[in-house]
Amino acid sequence: MIAETVAAPPAAETAKTRGRNKTKLITAIKDIRLLTERWRRNGKSIGLVPTMGALHEGHQSLIREARRACDRVVVTLFVNPLQFSPAEDLETYPRDLKKDLRLVSAEKVEVLFAPAKEDMYPEGFSTRVVPSDRLTQPLCGQSRPEHFTGVATVVAKLISQVRPHRAFFGQKDYQQWLVIKRVLADLNLGCEPILLPTVREADGLARSSRNVYLNKEERAVAPALYQALKLAEGMLQVGERNPKEVLEAVRKRLRSEPLITIDYVSVRNADTLEDLNILTGRVLVAVAVRLGKARLIDNILVDLASGS
Ligand code: PAJ
Repeated sequence: MIAETVAAPPAAETAKTRGRNKTKLITAIKDIRLLTERWRRNGKSIGLVPTMGALHEGHQSLIREARRACDRVVVTLFVNPLQFSPAEDLETYPRDLKKDLRLVSAEKVEVLFAPAKEDMYPEGFSTRVVPSDRLTQPLCGQSRPEHFTGVATVVAKLISQVRPHRAFFGQKDYQQWLVIKRVLADLNLGCEPILLPTVREADGLARSSRNVYLNKEERAVAPALYQALKLAEGMLQVGERNPKEVLEAVRKRLRSEPLITIDYVSVRNADTLEDLNILTGRVLVAVAVRLGKARLIDNILVDLASGS
């Protein structure tokens, strides 16, 4: 414990520091709590990166920022059954603990916390964190009605288990971000949420654990999502303020790909998710589509100087 309060060790590895370079896998809630309580007592700032595993460069960018901003980093890996509907891919969701452990070790993360389903949701578990309809009904809420309650519940649990100072999230799941930000504030969880940009493949496809569901043909058309969003961005940048025109252009681009089925295309106020008659302020353009076995989402934020 003393080692935590003395000056930073020299770069050369010593017996004392060696343990720190290897990520510890913790599965018991009481163990993570004990460890993070000790860190807090020693004045260390704690960063949390909640994930469902199958880690990729999107997760990695959150982990790197947590590493930069905090003294200690906990990545959580939990495929949360509460946020999947019975028809969804809970059973087939990609899982590769060994690979994930390697990735977090390479990023010098202190702990990978991977609780068991039975510990997170023991017999009799019945409480839910129900976020405001205003944020959960539009967009993904239309086809995934219970999803955000599942997300809010698990994130509130993870934060109460780890008690981080900051938690890191990606813009890729922008509606999730708005929901979580509200829940953290409303429940006084004492944790600052931080949003980071979407990480993309070279052709614009947003990285996602679910991209592995795409076959070769589907993968080839998947960049259409980002291209459609960029089209919307271009229109907004040259002064288009009619949401109908923007929506129609995005839909048209997506409809030109026969493999794509549109779930939704939406343009809204980026802070409240309210519908807009005239586009102004911070605007969210969001899409969700089905492509083969995958459901893909993506979005962009465009800041329109108000009144322009
Ligand atoms: P998961 O899909 O594993 O994503 C974990 C975090 O990584 C989320 O904050 C997500 O927005 C972020 N992320 C995913 N793809 C990204 C990309 N291409 N660029 C930047 N960030 C990206 O989101 C969840 O898990 C779960 O709902 C969770 C919050 C862990 C609750 O179960």
